[in-house]
Amino acid sequence: MASPTASKVTVPGLRARKLAGEKIAALTAYDHPSGLLADEAGMDVVLVGDSLANTVLGYDNTLPVTLEEMLVALRAVRRAVRRALLVADMPFGSYQGGEEKALESAIAFVKAGAEAVKLEGGRKRADIVRRIVESEIPVMGHIGLTPQSIHAMGGYRIQGKTPEGAEDLLEDALALEKAGAFSVVIEGVPAGLAAEITARLEVPTIGIGAGPECDGQILVFTDLLGLTPGPKPRFARQYTDLRAQALEAIRAYRRDIASGDFPSPAECYEAPAAKVVKA
Ligand code: KIV
Repeated sequence: MASPTASKVTVPGLRARKLAGEKIAALTAYDHPSGLLADEAGMDVVLVGDSLANTVLGYDNTLPVTLEEMLVALRAVRRAVRRALLVADMPFGSYQGGEEKALESAIAFVKAGAEAVKLEGGRKRADIVRRIVESEIPVMGHIGLTPQSIHAMGGYRIQGKTPEGAEDLLEDALALEKAGAFSVVIEGVPAGLAAEITARLEVPTIGIGAGPECDGQILVFTDLLGLTPGPKPRFARQYTDLRAQALEAIRAYRRDIASGDFPSPAECYEAPAAKVVKA
């Protein structure tokens, strides 16, 4: 893996990483603090994911988040990220309405600072990918368990478990590459299939719940830090429990208010005696 202090990560640079056999580290971010942390920690790719919807905005799934909400998040992350490649996720409804609509949405993201956009789907999206790429905007594909297809899939289900399903996903990946995608996220598919797709593609794959053979890995910021309650998919490795730490800190603050321990004299301001207005 490249040193976190190495130079700016670019789209061609990611392809070179695959050729060199160097793994790509990616993380989502949704605001200025998370963007700063991801970049400072040496992430190669920072994705302003549409998981903004359910991790930060409190929606049940990714479908409701709007282009405008994504743009606000992207601008905040843009002001934080310097080294990583900054990718913006195209939300549901911003690209399904045809090539021109998709291009318009992609341009809005680039104007707000994205260096590339990501969209979900395989062969069905190939024309849209081609149209956006022809306009000089790099596109990252996303196949497998695509959360925007939650209703069509009947829930969040691992994809590509049957021979036909596996063949479909391989075809999807190849179609995205042919359409010009510079990278493909593979989510929620058996590790062996993701390895096969990775071997067949010239562009790098970024896995999430897709085993160790992908060219890179991505996690959701709030999952990695343990910020959200409730069950997580098995692939969402939690590296710390910030939620528990935050709860303890906020409860301690409440106790200190109740006891009068906060604020202490050192946390107060005093006016010079002569200037105090006497009643
Ligand atoms: O929105 C998101 O967080 C994503 C990643 C999980 C790939 O699409």
